[in-house]
Amino acid sequence: MKTAITEMFGIAHPIIQGGMHYVGFAELASAVSNAGGLGIITGLTQRTPELLAKEIARCHDMTDKPFGVNLTFLPAFTTPPYPEYIAAIREGGIKIVETAGRSPEQYMPALKAAGIKVIHKCTSVRHSLKAEAIGCDAVSVDGFECGGHPGEDDMPNMILLPRAAEELKIPFVASGGMADARSLVAALAMGAAGMNMGTRFIATKEAPVHDNVKRALVAASELDTRLVMRALRNTERVLKNKAVDRLLEIEREKGAALKIADIHDQVAGAYPKVMIDGDLDAGAWSCGMVAGLIKDVPTVKELIDRIMADAERIIRERLVGFLDGDAQTKPAKVA
Ligand SMILES: Cc1cc2nc3c(=O)[nH]c(=O)nc-3n(C[C@H](O)[C@H](O)[C@H](O)COP(=O)(O)O)c2cc1C
Repeated sequence: MKTAITEMFGIAHPIIQGGMHYVGFAELASAVSNAGGLGIITGLTQRTPELLAKEIARCHDMTDKPFGVNLTFLPAFTTPPYPEYIAAIREGGIKIVETAGRSPEQYMPALKAAGIKVIHKCTSVRHSLKAEAIGCDAVSVDGFECGGHPGEDDMPNMILLPRAAEELKIPFVASGGMADARSLVAALAMGAAGMNMGTRFIATKEAPVHDNVKRALVAASELDTRLVMRALRNTERVLKNKAVDRLLEIEREKGAALKIADIHDQVAGAYPKVMIDGDLDAGAWSCGMVAGLIKDVPTVKELIDRIMADAERIIRERLVGFLDGDAQTKPAKVA
């Protein structure tokens, strides 16, 4: 399949793996790129720019296909040295950066001078237009369903994607709630040129996280996520667990007066404990509603091949079948 996104990034399939804290290591990024998608290393999971340089080198050893690096600009307990991270990205020969959180405007000159293509993840049409105006090459339009930070507009992808298509000139991928061929075909129908998946890629053989995490995603339903940190305007969609129950209790007690320090124990340092040690209740960790669509733990290649084969079947048989007047055309079942 060819779209503006496959052409822009030099990939075989219009499928991107979004940056994920303590998940987006070289193992997953290279597996996605080797399977024809675009794998992304999560920059800030590497505690220093030197460690990021090593992770990029490790990924180059695992794939000769294009892969990217995610740079997230979100409120943090300490501000990372972004210019040094960008230097590591440039010197590592990376040509694609996924930015997220705040606008990457102040870093665009450095990224563009290095010949890097920037795909910015946005949760609204206005932020997508801003990304286009500051010279981003593409956007990842992230609906309310998404795991991680859905923003504060609560706009689901059924509305957000067609609205983005109405306004944007640069290509965009659909992000949030994407799991299979049905997601991809729907995203393409709504104007996207591909899709970005986060949560679905965690439940794959190559994702270098504890098996408890993969099992939890297979077991979870679409009803099992919660929104935290709303009062801080730093909303995050996470999987419900004991720490999240406590966090929500504190949020109810504090109301609008909530400070980040009040929930420090539930949010700080949770990721290594969850993703590496498999302690699922150690704190709040991002997860999309799409968990309800995850039923297995395939290899990345099996997942991507299945999506592309099912997408072709849905388009050729089901959709063209309707046009040909076959009301009984096969349902959009996926393997
Ligand atoms: C465990 C986890 C960690 C994430 N960490 C980051 C991150 O560090 N930076 C970022 O830009 N997005 C992060 N995301 C968001 C993903 O890149 C992606 O946009 C999102 O998962 C898409 O929604 P989905 O989970 O419904 O596929 C994370 C998502 C998950 C599930």
